[in-house]
Amino acid sequence: MTGDPRTRLVGDGYDAIGDHFVAWRDEIAGDPRRWWAEQLESRLADGDRVLELGCGAGVPDTQLLAVRLRVTGVDISAEQVRRARANVPDAEFIHADFTALELEPASFEAVAAFYSFNHVPRDLLASMFSRIHSWLVPEGLSLVSLGVSDTEGWTGDWLGSTMFFSSFPPETNRRLLLDAGFTLELDEVVTFLEPDGEASFQWILARS
Ligand SMILES: C[S@@+](CC[C@H](N)C(=O)[O-])C[C@H]1O[C@@H](n2cnc3c(N)ncnc32)[C@H](O)[C@@H]1O
Repeated sequence: MTGDPRTRLVGDGYDAIGDHFVAWRDEIAGDPRRWWAEQLESRLADGDRVLELGCGAGVPDTQLLAVRLRVTGVDISAEQVRRARANVPDAEFIHADFTALELEPASFEAVAAFYSFNHVPRDLLASMFSRIHSWLVPEGLSLVSLGVSDTEGWTGDWLGSTMFFSSFPPETNRRLLLDAGFTLELDEVVTFLEPDGEASFQWILARS
């Protein structure tokens, strides 16, 4: 499906860790995702088209967005897409590597990504933001949570499977979004508690 060994590794990893990931996520304390999902949802009109990149099993964010909006979820893991289809029958799902996805220009009012961009090789982030910009209608919304450490690439054991992580510091994330043509509406680094310790993500809500 994808030629990039780093993203292929992520897909294989999420195929393998299905139930383990659910149990691990249930242990997280202070996850701000709901507040951010509501910031996006409340700015959209009934029936607006939302593309969700790295939707995982579709819970809880895809489910929340699909109540009032037309959601298309994308995930590289066949197992996660299988779960998402069962969990959110009202949304559509594409099994694909979003770093290689081709979509029609101006075909979504919003693009969202919850905790998936810290798996994107950071050398692909600039082109990813440009492509998201092209998929949005003018004044469309983009909500992303991004890693904040200066990590070109980390490959190792995570939840019992091999996983890949990559990220830029917040000032670089911000600059790449501005360079892609976005205007930033909200931009905040939030720290919370994962089962294995503190984790920080930069949340950015931006307009095309
Ligand atoms: C930490 S999980 C988050 C899932 C869901 N958004 C959530 O918050 O529970 C990251 C998800 O992003 C997906 N993902 C990572 N890189 C991807 C890529 N290049 N293309 C498609 N999906 C990707 C993974 O397969 C995984 O399901």
